[in-house]
Amino acid sequence: MTEFPHVLAAPPDSLPPGTELLRGQFRVESFLNAGGFGITYLARNSLERRVVLKECYPSSMCCRADHEVRARTRSQQVEFDTVVRLFVEEARRLAKLDHPNIVGVHDVFEDNSTAYMALDYVEGRDLLDVIEAEPTRLGPPEIRKITRRLLDAVIHVHDLDILHRDISPDNVLLDRNNEPILIDFGAARDTARRASRVLSALQVVKDGYSPQEFYLAGSPQSPAGDLYSLGATLHHLLTGEAPANSHMRLAALAEQRPDPYVPLKGRMPGYDDRFLLAIDRALNVFAKDRVQTARQWRDMIDETTTGAASAPLMGETEVAARIQRLVEDTNAVVKVEQERAEKERQEREALETQEREALEQKRIRLKQQAMREAEEAAQAVAAARVGALPEEATTCDPANHSETLCEHKGGTARPRLFGRIWRGFRRQGETDQVGQMEGYGA
Ligand SMILES: Nc1ncnc2c1ncn2[C@@H]1O[C@H](COP(=O)(O)OP(=O)(O)O)[C@@H](O)[C@H]1O
Ligand SMILES: [Mg+2]
Repeated sequence: MTEFPHVLAAPPDSLPPGTELLRGQFRVESFLNAGGFGITYLARNSLERRVVLKECYPSSMCCRADHEVRARTRSQQVEFDTVVRLFVEEARRLAKLDHPNIVGVHDVFEDNSTAYMALDYVEGRDLLDVIEAEPTRLGPPEIRKITRRLLDAVIHVHDLDILHRDISPDNVLLDRNNEPILIDFGAARDTARRASRVLSALQVVKDGYSPQEFYLAGSPQSPAGDLYSLGATLHHLLTGEAPANSHMRLAALAEQRPDPYVPLKGRMPGYDDRFLLAIDRALNVFAKDRVQTARQWRDMIDETTTGAASAPLMGETEVAARIQRLVEDTNAVVKVEQERAEKERQEREALETQEREALEQKRIRLKQQAMREAEEAAQAVAAARVGALPEEATTCDPANHSETLCEHKGGTARPRLFGRIWRGFRRQGETDQVGQMEGYGA
């Protein structure tokens, strides 16, 4: 039995319960949800463990016949294949996330001519359900803990250069210990939308939770965008509703009307001003005015809990949890740093190899030129000997020498070609041979 509170009617093109995937490795148990980009199922793996399967199924461009998925028209097949490829790539990126407050992706595979990712099943309900069905379940201590945990999760995501892009109450599951788990990364949908003309019309923003820049195609996106969405999610938790739609807020400011957002600071009993101010800061309309990193945000909150004289002492479990998180954060940073250093090392090595090869080429060229010169010089000497020197002449004597071959230098006759021979052999590092061959010392 599933504990899912809202059971939606399965669309006719979803896989029916009992469908086997990857040659029986997974078995669909029930349909969970369908969006413009895919269908989510509850399933079992080969060990009979419950998992959640996400199927790449952009319904506006594909259809299913006997489980197999294909583009609706022949001309859309290439785009559909691209969307499937991007889905697989994104799943691989998400599989690198390893954090207790982020759903684990443990498999990605292709079947039925489309792709699937298998996620750890989280037993619990999403924050939206909790707010609506159990409004008294979460008080200030629980909400503070959830905030802290979600910030830890977002730090981990951003440390790996990934943006979530769809943080909202329905994408945070709460387990029975009120531990929040971040699910449903929207970055893959955004990439698919950018890559496909057919999908470009699909909405990838959520009113009330998406920052204004997510509404503008091609506008730069930064971690501060995710922080806006996290701020909006917490705003919903605290007040029971999402803040004013960021697009409307932007329009109001552009028309020089007051921002419809009502700051939380000072109006929420049970929360200190710093905690509320941090959310207000994350919810600024313009990215540059927001709190810029999840770490900054966490530090603001931590100052509140550790700095104030009235702050209660931390229990052992809290201390242990903090140390654990510190270790996890440090590990993530170290990992990113190691990857960067390794990349730099590889680039340096490639450059050195290139330089070494260029030097070697130059050396070979010089040597060949030197050998050519030496050979020419030797031939010239031989020719001159045959043509101009008397048979028996073996030395150069100022009184009896050939002007073609010799020149006077400080009263001594030296061969004219000496310099050339010398240069040639010196380039080869064979100075001795010059002396031996011509009877002149170096
Ligand atoms: N790993 C999971 N464990 C348990 N339930 C999940 C899990 N992933 C998704 N769900 C349930 O399925 C619903 C839809 O999944 P989600 O990933 O948010 O897809 P989408 O919103 O794109 O349809 C969620 O609101 C949640 O109720
Ligand atoms: Mg969702």
